[in-house]
Amino acid sequence: MIRIDPWSSQKYDYEHLFENFGIERFDESIWKDLPSPPFFYRRGIVFGHRDFGIIRDAIKNGKPWAILTGLMPSGKMHLGHKIVIDQVIYYQSIGADIHIAVADIEAYATRGYSLKQAEKIAIEEYIANYIALGLKPCNIYFQSKNEHVKDMAYLLAKKANLSETLAIYGFTGSTNMSHIFAPFIQAGDILHVQLDEYGGIRPTLVPVGVDQDPHIRFCRDIASAHRMYSVMKKDGKVAVFIKEEDAKKLLDIAEGIATKHGYDFERNDAYKAIYIDADDEREIDFELALEERKLGGYGFILPASTYHRFITGLDGNKMSSSRPNYAIFLSDDIETVKKKIWAAKTGGGVTMEEHRRYGGKPEQCMIYELFTYGLIKDDKQLEEIYEDCRAGKQTCGKCKKMALQLMEEFLNDLKEKREQAKEEIKEYIKLK
Ligand code: TRP
Repeated sequence: MIRIDPWSSQKYDYEHLFENFGIERFDESIWKDLPSPPFFYRRGIVFGHRDFGIIRDAIKNGKPWAILTGLMPSGKMHLGHKIVIDQVIYYQSIGADIHIAVADIEAYATRGYSLKQAEKIAIEEYIANYIALGLKPCNIYFQSKNEHVKDMAYLLAKKANLSETLAIYGFTGSTNMSHIFAPFIQAGDILHVQLDEYGGIRPTLVPVGVDQDPHIRFCRDIASAHRMYSVMKKDGKVAVFIKEEDAKKLLDIAEGIATKHGYDFERNDAYKAIYIDADDEREIDFELALEERKLGGYGFILPASTYHRFITGLDGNKMSSSRPNYAIFLSDDIETVKKKIWAAKTGGGVTMEEHRRYGGKPEQCMIYELFTYGLIKDDKQLEEIYEDCRAGKQTCGKCKKMALQLMEEFLNDLKEKREQAKEEIKEYIKLK
């Protein structure tokens, strides 16, 4: 069986994820109408999603929606970690309500950190950089300090059983129980923002690396298992099914919604279903979810997700804090970065003569990838470099020099802002 393991450092064949896991392509058609599409959309860095349509609709219609993502406080923050926060900052700028989980319980359960160590790393390495990168005040919290998240994890767990959990994650008899519980905490993270205390039922987007998809699937299954209604598009109608024993009351409520909107419907009590002649199943699902909440249920809307590609390490393998020579850390000094960049793998010809004659391969070049991941902002300039490299006109030396200069500016600026950020951290997190 093929499995994505969120705790390993696998490499991914992105094509295969569409076929085997039902991740959908994040094509231009889905994002082109959003305000100022950012580089990570335009350049295909965010490549896949589940249910992003619900978010796009909320943005277009000016309805409330939320972002929930998480950070694992382990190791130092490197460029690979930056891409998620670039996304969060963009979503904040277009009106999302932002929530960020510090996964200190997960770091404790799966990586052997103490909560105290995790807290220090989270603040000094991650949150300080998030603020320096431009994140405005929002809800950043620690899993271990959020009672709602922990309660929810426990309560939600009722609708998942052991075999399912083992099958998704490949846990074995010797996996520690805190680790086995980590996916439930993460489901608590993702779903708690729909509690009334955190803004209520609304579309929620979880931007993550694709290694996190098992958690997303797991959480979506749990969320839907806690619903009383199941709503889907069927034969051009909106089909509403009741999942509870006593269907009459719930069918009455659904009928009431159809009537209120003036939609035709066909009700089938024996089948515990009602088919509504409407186009927008999301709107009906949302209204039913609100009714469920009034009845004492959770009424979660299924969380949507996007997946980004991982940035490659400077040697062509994975960028990871466990291989420091091939990662660029946001706290690296310039001398260190210089060495790393000069040693990076490029797509250039073996000799200058060959390079000039046959051209280079920007797709295989780690410097070009740094440009793509935001070091170069202007698409046109990026394209010129691409063409000039292919034509053998742009040499690797020239690119490396440029990368170094841009990186130096970026890191110096960030360092200064990180200093200021230390003062501001209190506005972002409540520490007990
Ligand atoms: N598991 C994530 C990681 O390893 C961290 C995380 C915890 C998270 N809770 C989350 C990510 C909720 C997204 C949503 O990086």
